[in-house]
Amino acid sequence: MSLQDFQRRMGMPLAKSTSPDDFSAIRKETDTAGADVVDHTADLKAHPPSMGLKVEAYRKAIAHGSPLMRTTPVGLDGKTAKIVYKIHSANDLPVGKSVLVKPYHEKLHPKTKYWQNHPINGWAEMTNQSLYHAAGMGDSHQEVHVSEHDMGPGFDKHPAVIVHMDPRADYVEHLHPMDFEPKMGVEAAKIGVMDFLSNNLDRHRHNLMVRTDGATDSSGMPYSSSLLAIDHGRSFQYHASHKGVPSHVDDFFLGPMTIPEDMRTTKNAEGKTTDNLLPYLQSDAMQSVSEAAQGSGAPAVHDASHFLRVIEQWWPDVRDRVISTFGDRLNSIKEPRMKQHLLENFQARVEKLDDIAARAEWYKSSARIHDLDVPLKVWDR
Ligand SMILES: Nc1ncnc2c1ncn2[C@@H]1O[C@H](COP(=O)(O)OP(=O)(O)O)[C@@H](O)[C@H]1O
Ligand SMILES: [Mg+2]
Repeated sequence: MSLQDFQRRMGMPLAKSTSPDDFSAIRKETDTAGADVVDHTADLKAHPPSMGLKVEAYRKAIAHGSPLMRTTPVGLDGKTAKIVYKIHSANDLPVGKSVLVKPYHEKLHPKTKYWQNHPINGWAEMTNQSLYHAAGMGDSHQEVHVSEHDMGPGFDKHPAVIVHMDPRADYVEHLHPMDFEPKMGVEAAKIGVMDFLSNNLDRHRHNLMVRTDGATDSSGMPYSSSLLAIDHGRSFQYHASHKGVPSHVDDFFLGPMTIPEDMRTTKNAEGKTTDNLLPYLQSDAMQSVSEAAQGSGAPAVHDASHFLRVIEQWWPDVRDRVISTFGDRLNSIKEPRMKQHLLENFQARVEKLDDIAARAEWYKSSARIHDLDVPLKVWDR
């Protein structure tokens, strides 16, 4: 058996990361309209400065043909085209770590058209990362950057999203009440609020991870459990409201109640005009956190007393930075109507958070679910 056969049988074919063929899966999933909507060049530098060395090392490996070990993404959940590389000792990246390469201008799938209509996924992932850092919660976001690759004729400087996978991360559904700490409840509420801001409808149990192994952080400090938000390419669509609204909820003060059908449905591109904060705090992933929280005696993420306090204490301090960061990010959107669509919807959500923070006492004492509504300004391309 040749070495290659052996490696293939083991599910780990070796490949040079610089071979254009390597990127055929990414190339195939490219939406050519993407480049008309988004200019990716600013994203080559949009990662946080703390990632500088990793990004440099990745680019060096790609440019100079250092071998990365290409692995079959066995057991990786998700539907997007992706390649996983394990880092080989022949370059400067931390050996044994993996990077995930995903399309930057990802094709839209007809099946998800009712909530995904705009080819902006690379921009969305990078915008999300920038906003987390602006909001003082950068540690809760995965490390991601954008690099150009030679992916063959016509795709010779083609952008892709590079996710630096965190080896300590496990799915949040495995979070045990013993590993739950109150600060995770705060992180979870902030992540839910960011999902609301960015209309992230994709926060299912496999898009929120948890780091629990008591390892040390980059400065050598032992760290405790923390959440890690991943996979934000499908956010900032502002095309549908959250789909995770249950048919029954406990209203803040009214107690258990039925949610009207018109608020639950997401097939709303025609006609539906609101989204709501609460479902983002009740997404699949948030329910995993809430189960662990409640198991340890802490409040659920969607408990009004919990998330209203988080918003009140955190949002006023970070909102100016979040807004100006979003403004900078909009410079990469080339299509004027798309820019306006993003701005209008983002502003509506900022206003809602401002109001909640300013009138937290009122929300705590008299708010109803519909007071957490925001207008959804749908634009059908
Ligand atoms: N930053 C990360 N750290 C650790 N594992 C990750 C990270 N990003 C992705 N993964 C793993 O890869 C899987 C697929 O990645 P994801 O970005 O969610 O792609 P998809 O769009 O296909 O869902 C995740 O469910 C998770 O298991
Ligand atoms: Mg995913």
